Amino acid sequence: MARKFTGYVIDNEILAKDIFRLKIESDSLTQIANVGQFVNIKCSNGLEHLLRRPISLMDVDKENGTFDLGFQVKGEGTKFLSEKKKGDSLDIIGPSGNYFDLNSDYKKVAIIGGGIGVFPLYYLLKNLKSCKKDVFLGFRQKQYVIMEDEFKMFSDDLYIGTDDGSYGYKGFIINYFKMMLEKNRYDIIYACGPTLMLKGISNLAKDFNINCQISLEQRMGCGIGACLVCACKIKMGKQWEYKHVCKDGPVFWSDEVIFDE
Ligand code: FES
Repeated sequence: MARKFTGYVIDNEILAKDIFRLKIESDSLTQIANVGQFVNIKCSNGLEHLLRRPISLMDVDKENGTFDLGFQVKGEGTKFLSEKKKGDSLDIIGPSGNYFDLNSDYKKVAIIGGGIGVFPLYYLLKNLKSCKKDVFLGFRQKQYVIMEDEFKMFSDDLYIGTDDGSYGYKGFIINYFKMMLEKNRYDIIYACGPTLMLKGISNLAKDFNINCQISLEQRMGCGIGACLVCACKIKMGKQWEYKHVCKDGPVFWSDEVIFDE
């Protein structure tokens, strides 16, 4: 159940150009957080930017009562966060949203992420036990490749690609993933990244008949189900209806989601 609390910044590290990893202390969140959830942070000291910014949990350390958030500076709100220093306080609501299905029957797992969509997948990866984990990460260019060592530590095989070929596989990582799907059988795919990538992965999951969960990266307003900013179309039998990514997601089974053409 999401609750409002004050978190204190422990560290704010730059991972790549405009991409940050913020470590926050808060015992109350870490004890109840689940894999795939997010927090809503107030990104101002005053009344400006009243809307909160939703940011996925990229790591949770229950023992030390800290959690990490990864984000990219895209506007005033995230710029505000990028300037936070050790000891600063933040007004946070969370943990919010649903979480990934970590069924122990899944013995061979594929994780695929693109850009800053890799952040929630790191927390997922760390929490997957007793299964083989193949991880596929795609970035625009070498300078945006992040968290390679951390992912390597917890995955069995890690494949990295860049759109321009400046590091690892050249091209969209989903193309490499498709080649691997032709040779490997996975029990489930977990994915997070740009919508176009998630749409492609959902199609692959359907073609190869594999369970697939995706975490949708949607623009959000209120973050608590009170507006329609984060609406997405979800199949309901032969019909569909709008669901809220913030309240009903952000994690959905890929075969439920209707992507716009
Ligand atoms: Fe307002 Fe989801 S952000 S309903």
